[in-house]
Amino acid sequence: MFPCTWAFNYRAFLACFIFAVTVFGQPAALTYDPSPFNFIGTIDDLTLDTAGGVLAGGTITVNGITVTVPKNLLVTLPSVSVAWSELFDGGVPSLPLLGSVSWEATIFGNVVRGERIAGLIYIAQETTQLLQGFITSINMTTGHFHVSDLDCVLNDPLGRFGPAYTAHPLWTVDPDNPSVRSSTGFPLCIPRNSTDPECPLTNRPTDGNGNALTTFTFNDPASISAGDPDPRIMVPLVVGDYITFSGTKVAGGLLAVYSLEANLGIYTAPGTKPAYITVEAAQYAIVVPDPTVEVGETRATALATDPSTLIQWFAIDVNPCTGKSTERNLLLVKPRTAAPRGKTVFRLSKTDASPATRQVGFRYSTGTQPGPRGIIAGQFIQPVFDYVFPELVSFGSPEVPNQFDLMPYLASGSGPFVPGNLLSPPMASPTIVRQLSPWPGNLKPGAVACPTITPTSSSASSASATGSTTESAEPSASATVSSPAPSASAGGPQVIQILAATTQNVRGTITTSVNATTSSLTAQLFLAIAGGDAVSPQPMSNLGGGLFTMSITTKTKPTSVTVTSSEDATPVTQTL
Ligand SMILES: *[C@@H]1O[C@H](CO)[C@@H](O)[C@H](O)[C@H]1NC(C)=O
Ligand SMILES: *[C@@H]1O[C@H](CO)[C@@H](O)[C@H](O)[C@H]1NC(C)=O
Ligand SMILES: *[C@@H]1O[C@H](CO)[C@@H](O)[C@H](O)[C@H]1NC(C)=O
Repeated sequence: MFPCTWAFNYRAFLACFIFAVTVFGQPAALTYDPSPFNFIGTIDDLTLDTAGGVLAGGTITVNGITVTVPKNLLVTLPSVSVAWSELFDGGVPSLPLLGSVSWEATIFGNVVRGERIAGLIYIAQETTQLLQGFITSINMTTGHFHVSDLDCVLNDPLGRFGPAYTAHPLWTVDPDNPSVRSSTGFPLCIPRNSTDPECPLTNRPTDGNGNALTTFTFNDPASISAGDPDPRIMVPLVVGDYITFSGTKVAGGLLAVYSLEANLGIYTAPGTKPAYITVEAAQYAIVVPDPTVEVGETRATALATDPSTLIQWFAIDVNPCTGKSTERNLLLVKPRTAAPRGKTVFRLSKTDASPATRQVGFRYSTGTQPGPRGIIAGQFIQPVFDYVFPELVSFGSPEVPNQFDLMPYLASGSGPFVPGNLLSPPMASPTIVRQLSPWPGNLKPGAVACPTITPTSSSASSASATGSTTESAEPSASATVSSPAPSASAGGPQVIQILAATTQNVRGTITTSVNATTSSLTAQLFLAIAGGDAVSPQPMSNLGGGLFTMSITTKTKPTSVTVTSSEDATPVTQTL
């Protein structure tokens, strides 16, 4: 533009100088700190800090960018949340085929004083993988099934939906919710043999030509006869079912499936139990009172086998010290009765649902019932995979840092750590998940002081908090209390004995299971539970021979269980 060699007056010389600066000095925009980052990329490397125990942090490198993983961060995998350390085996990342298959991370974080720190991390192999096709074969011995040439197995370490597969437990199906399911949420299974009582071929009705039905409604279980299709039992998958599925590629060309939906319209009789729910999506908006940003909407989509019953959507707040969960109702919605029948859309529009929680739940207004093989029928607990942080509305202004301080489970902690690996034993002594450290933000929120927890024994079922606190911690996923056996005197008065009372904390929902016997063969036993969610005496199921059993699901852990009899007997109470 200005050939400098031709400059012969001052103005031209100046112009030439400015031009030279523009070309050779490279302009730079002012950067700012803190600044946010949200990215999805391919994992190059993971490291684990040597100090910090089970909740230690480390680093994750994604597409060449290294991010600090704070201590206390729990990573969300397709079906479970795990401590960072659970991703390592002897210091080596236990991601099957890492290096030859794309393992991907979605990371939300902030750059704070120059350090790139994560607040939320999601990890999966091939995040966007979604496959479809007809099942072409099922091997009941191995549990493997094929979709054309692809060899698949349900990654089901606990064997809830078919033969157990324990090789890669982190990448499991969701064992507590119907994650292997019909389009409507009915739990499906791979038969363990041709007469598997928990996955009988007879539970899949056929048409007059012997072809398995793809749409049907179960009758009320109270009115069915033996051998009839029964909604209390899972429905078998069969060759010819059209499925949509995702999984983890493992050695030998096998796909270890963690999510499977079959195109089946299976419904339950209106207003009866069990009925089932599944969740397609749930997103939580982070709301800030800032006019320069736009906030998203908190919403979810669920599917129901009983479109006649309302579904309550709730957020699950957790006590940072005890981990005790409290439900906060968000919206009560009636499922669609017209096609797509059973679809239930929850939209909060501009309603602020703060604070955002790690998990949300969905439950029929009529409540839950223990379902087949440990599934809780009538509810679905879902981790939030999609937080909608505020978005800039004026392009060019500084990006707004992610407000992790508005997420209590990151800012204050979430109570005793429960391993996400379904095959890991419960923690021998309670380890509290506290505030992320280093904190991924400019101003660290005030830390919550929790009382010191003292385990009562190495396999503690409950840990008592010292000091004046009245809340007890829930240290383990599964805790067993063996009862002191009362001596039954033959021929004497009726004696009740609690054989076993267990509680299982399944992502914030407590299932209490009790087995008891009575010395009277004519008595009916009842189970009551005490605590935050007291339940009045409920008739237990009679297994015959004086043996009774029952499971009850509550929001909070019961303090004790009491078994009473329809006949004259001293009630027996056991502290949990
Ligand atoms: C099922 O798998 C087992 C073990 O690999 C094999 O021996 C058997 O032949 C298979 N059954 C069928 C029907 O393919
Ligand atoms: C079929 O599988 C079920 C569940 O594993 C088992 O209880 C039953 O004994 C098996 N039946 C046969 C005939 O193998
Ligand atoms: C109760 O007894 C049943 C049947 O024997 C058994 O399957 C179950 O595991 C027992 N539950 C507990 C909590 O021990």
